[in-house]
Amino acid sequence: MTTRTKATFPPPIPEARRWLDGVTFPPGRPLINLSQAAPVDPPPPQMRAAMARAIETPQTHLYGPVLGNDSLRAALAENWARHYGGTVQPGQIAITAGCNQAFAATIAALTTEGDEVILPVPWYFNHKMWLDMSGVTAVPLHTGPDLIPDAAAAETLITDRTRAIALVSPNNPGGVEYPPQTLRAFFDLARKYGLRLILDETYRDFHSQSGAPHDLLAVTDWDQTLIQLYSFSKSYRLTGHRAGAIIADPALLHEMEKFQDTVAICAPQMGQMAAEWGLRNLDQWVAEQRDEILARRRAIAEHFPALQAKGWKLLGLGAYFAYIEHPFADTAAQIAPKLVREAGVLLLPGSMFFPKGDPSGDRHFRVAFANTDAAGIADFTARLAALDWPLAAPKGAA
Ligand SMILES: Cc1ncc(COP(=O)(O)O)c(C=O)c1O
Repeated sequence: MTTRTKATFPPPIPEARRWLDGVTFPPGRPLINLSQAAPVDPPPPQMRAAMARAIETPQTHLYGPVLGNDSLRAALAENWARHYGGTVQPGQIAITAGCNQAFAATIAALTTEGDEVILPVPWYFNHKMWLDMSGVTAVPLHTGPDLIPDAAAAETLITDRTRAIALVSPNNPGGVEYPPQTLRAFFDLARKYGLRLILDETYRDFHSQSGAPHDLLAVTDWDQTLIQLYSFSKSYRLTGHRAGAIIADPALLHEMEKFQDTVAICAPQMGQMAAEWGLRNLDQWVAEQRDEILARRRAIAEHFPALQAKGWKLLGLGAYFAYIEHPFADTAAQIAPKLVREAGVLLLPGSMFFPKGDPSGDRHFRVAFANTDAAGIADFTARLAALDWPLAAPKGAA
């Protein structure tokens, strides 16, 4: 019997952590763990103080409204309208227990068994996993060397079972920021076929361009096509408090209310309270975090030529990620545990972001560079540049 969970693969991050078992790292050469995109530090002290005050508020310990606290929905609507230059009402916002749950609620409201959702590859593995567990086919849309998906190519994949196209921008795992015209082309395509465009903007606050990354909210009835997803995990370092959001048509959110009520009843109150406090007080702090991430991104660009000289290629860079091609004969999945043992570096192989059996990711690694500072990035690139493993035969060689 195939159960819902047997229909998909094990989560990649715990699997990668197992490569660390039994390996010791000398004090002068600690592990550089660039496998997971998660802030390691706690939220800033002023937010922690607000959370400490909230612990004394009775409401923090109770169930709240299923689609989120009204005051948080209002604060995010205001923030969203300001950021994207469009009109967003509190009724177009739902608060979830993290952005992964936002995706799950969205898919539950849009699809049934046998339906299809188009995902560009390399894909965010939890999107693929949830589609598997929902009996929905994830239809891979290959992206080419620049990792930017093409709406015309997506059009050829649309069938009468297609319900949605799901994009992530800035992208996980590719790092790339989808240009506004790409996002507009996907919006127009979705609208033409009566599909929904799901746009996961978890990394919105680390975009290299200030201001709106697209103009989709300028369309009067945007919510008939567009569903945006957001996470408070990265921007406010609230990973453990599970706060995310869906920005969508109120009628669709009403459908998702059934999912949310059954699965979580409501998003955790402490996370909601902290998210609202952050939205109202931390604009400057978030801007500083963005500056730091952009500095780390520059450090990757600055150090990459040393790797390029050894045959590595930088395919994508942005938000929390670099997506790179290695020059070696073995596949990335074979190399990844060896990188831990011999270089003290933990990375996820590209094959974790492609359909099973698709060799496209065999030469790729995702680098979650946001997890280390500029000095760590210099050390990381030096360790990779020092590897003298057998190289792949040049392309076209027998
Ligand atoms: C694209 C994307 N969506 C969603 C999530 C999950 O976010 P959350 O912690 O809010 O569930 C992540 C986390 O890595 C992500 O990269």
